[in-house]
Amino acid sequence: MVGLEHVCVAAVSDMDLLVFCPFLLVLVLPRGGLADVDKQRVDSGLEIYKKLFEVKRKDQMNALKNLIELNDVNQQYKIIDIMLKGLFKVLEDSRAVLIAADVPPDGPFPQDEKLKDAYSHVVENTAFFGDVVLRFPKIVHHYFDRNSNWNNLIRWGIGFCNLTGVFERGPHSQLLGLMAQELGISEKSPDYRNPFKADHSEFFPSADTFQKALREEEKRRKKEEKRKEIRKGPRISRSQSEL
Ligand SMILES: *[C@@H]1O[C@H](CO)[C@@H](O)[C@H](O)[C@H]1NC(C)=O
Repeated sequence: MVGLEHVCVAAVSDMDLLVFCPFLLVLVLPRGGLADVDKQRVDSGLEIYKKLFEVKRKDQMNALKNLIELNDVNQQYKIIDIMLKGLFKVLEDSRAVLIAADVPPDGPFPQDEKLKDAYSHVVENTAFFGDVVLRFPKIVHHYFDRNSNWNNLIRWGIGFCNLTGVFERGPHSQLLGLMAQELGISEKSPDYRNPFKADHSEFFPSADTFQKALREEEKRRKKEEKRKEIRKGPRISRSQSEL
């Protein structure tokens, strides 16, 4: 939880990010809602959680839609950078909690509040990361591919989620498999195709403009990186002060 709050304070200098922050908090850190589970019989815990998960997924889809509709690649880079840092921090902390308490992904849904939170954080953040990598493959690869800690975490997260049964049927049954292929965690099947890469999806009403802006932003970033390499020296990295 510390992760994102910290990030939001860091983003104060940037109005757009500031505006985005309350919404990021809703995204990655589910609040409340789980208290109701206590009143139910233990073995129905997972079934109840699956319903909450669907509600959560709707929020996540809306958030994603907002992010797509920003139509500003530079802002999308910044927001996704911040979001991923928060998301993986939560994933890392939650994994530690679940492992310390020896919570098996295929066991009964945990009853302890702290464990329930950790469990749902893993499931929801893994799902949301899947959405983000499928919709913004270039941006996510830009940050993800150089971070072996994130790679380890999401491998673990996908494995955990796969065993919970939460993704088994219904609208998310493809998500874990697709994201694992997009991330290079499992081998791409010959007919693998990122369903959003073609950009004919409803999410990209102006695909051409978007693609053009994306290419330009890529070019700009490459140039920037080259400049940084030349300049190395004692300077603090500029990207940090830009955020
Ligand atoms: C999920 O588990 C099944 C059964 O063990 C396996 O075949 C499949 O590859 C796993 N999917 C992912 C994305 O890891």
